[in-house]
Amino acid sequence: MESSLPLVIDRTAGPALHLQLAEQFRAAVLDGRLQAGHRLPSTRALAKQLGVSRAVAQSAYDQLHAEGWLEGRTGAGTFVTDVTPLRPAQPRRTTSRPEPARELLTLRPGIPYIDPTPDPGWRRAWREVSAQSPPGGYDDAAGLPALRVALAEHVGRVRGIACGPENILVTNGTVHGLRLLLGVTRQLGDRIAIEDPGYPNAVVAAQDHRLEILDVPVDRDGLQVSALTEDLHAVYVTPSHQYPLGGRLPVARRNELIRWARRTGAMLIEDDYDSEFRFDVAPLPALAQLDLDRVVHLGTLSKTLSPALRLGWLVASEGTVDQLATFRANSGDWPGWPMQAALLAMLRDGYLDHAVRKHRRRYADRRIHACAALAPYGRVIGQDAGLHITLLLPDHVDDRRISALAHEAGVAVAPLTDFRRSVPGPPGLVIGYATPTAEDLHRALAVLTKVLDTSI
Ligand SMILES: Cc1ncc(COP(=O)(O)O)c(C=O)c1O
Repeated sequence: MESSLPLVIDRTAGPALHLQLAEQFRAAVLDGRLQAGHRLPSTRALAKQLGVSRAVAQSAYDQLHAEGWLEGRTGAGTFVTDVTPLRPAQPRRTTSRPEPARELLTLRPGIPYIDPTPDPGWRRAWREVSAQSPPGGYDDAAGLPALRVALAEHVGRVRGIACGPENILVTNGTVHGLRLLLGVTRQLGDRIAIEDPGYPNAVVAAQDHRLEILDVPVDRDGLQVSALTEDLHAVYVTPSHQYPLGGRLPVARRNELIRWARRTGAMLIEDDYDSEFRFDVAPLPALAQLDLDRVVHLGTLSKTLSPALRLGWLVASEGTVDQLATFRANSGDWPGWPMQAALLAMLRDGYLDHAVRKHRRRYADRRIHACAALAPYGRVIGQDAGLHITLLLPDHVDDRRISALAHEAGVAVAPLTDFRRSVPGPPGLVIGYATPTAEDLHRALAVLTKVLDTSI
């Protein structure tokens, strides 16, 4: 039966007439006034009924046809499709409101100082990027070719790794590179060794990839190579500045580690997160410099410029880089062109070197201040490099309680226990001194030492 629909046209305002009609049809189907199978008037009849042009009625029907509300049977007319309306989704109820984050002074490790006034070198790089049109098409999945050349030169000069652009893959930082590597190379049942205490995000990455983890003890020189077993797929290691205890893997142990990897065929994953900052002697060349067939080296801008840039590099054998790039070409997961182009400009103009030099001077003073303030409470270790120190506390102290008390007093600081897994060791605090301004560092240390005074 043909319908005479209760449609109203508003000519004074609102959407175009055909859209008004279509909307009223939809509402009539959803509220049941128009049932499935109902035959609609012809466009000519509808136009006449409403006093609109036939083109308006036709456009409304075309739209409803295209969306699937109507179906036409040749020679038979236009009918309402069987559309069972969805029940409206239940609005999600959150029972508890998140507490507004409190402003804390932070002594958490791992975040550099960010100057509130951008450096001219930084601005120059971005001006240069903004003056270019983006590439037309998908970039090389391993990274911009010119940037790979510049990074090969950079890691050669700064970290002693003799390599070419074919050994470089541009990443979104260490963790991105690590996850990519694990995702592409691991097999079911593989085991990975990770320093204990060590970097929690590396542990999470291994767990997410269903790797079995061997907790490897660390001493004042870093990873204990003698604790490695023969059945490992990979070893994650921070040879320049063990995270978080601060040891530097000495040459003899590096050689032992490389010999072990050559014998077992395991892959060594070198996390070189803060090697740019050493305050005693020049940094040792990277572990990767010894054997690029066995070591995959991960570098990052997170400690030198900012973790918010999400940019880093992976240095590996050409075969590994190709394998990772092929995977990325399929996943689309690589850093965007503007960020890569900006880093290229920063490397070429020497801005990265300049920023590192400037920060190194700044951190050297802060480090001395932090060590002096904390020395009375325990043993300060790892102070020769990086952006943090570790304060080892007497055995009876509960470092998580100290961290909680500091938090209540307005200072965020990480307990060493949060970096430990199964290897026992003394409690402590991992104290980053880079992030705050000099004044805030002073205030934060005053709060923390007061907490330590009253609780150990
Ligand atoms: C040991 C270690 N590796 C790497 C990173 C940096 O990771 P990303 O480059 O992914 O920011 C950090 C940051 O805190 C770290 O502590």
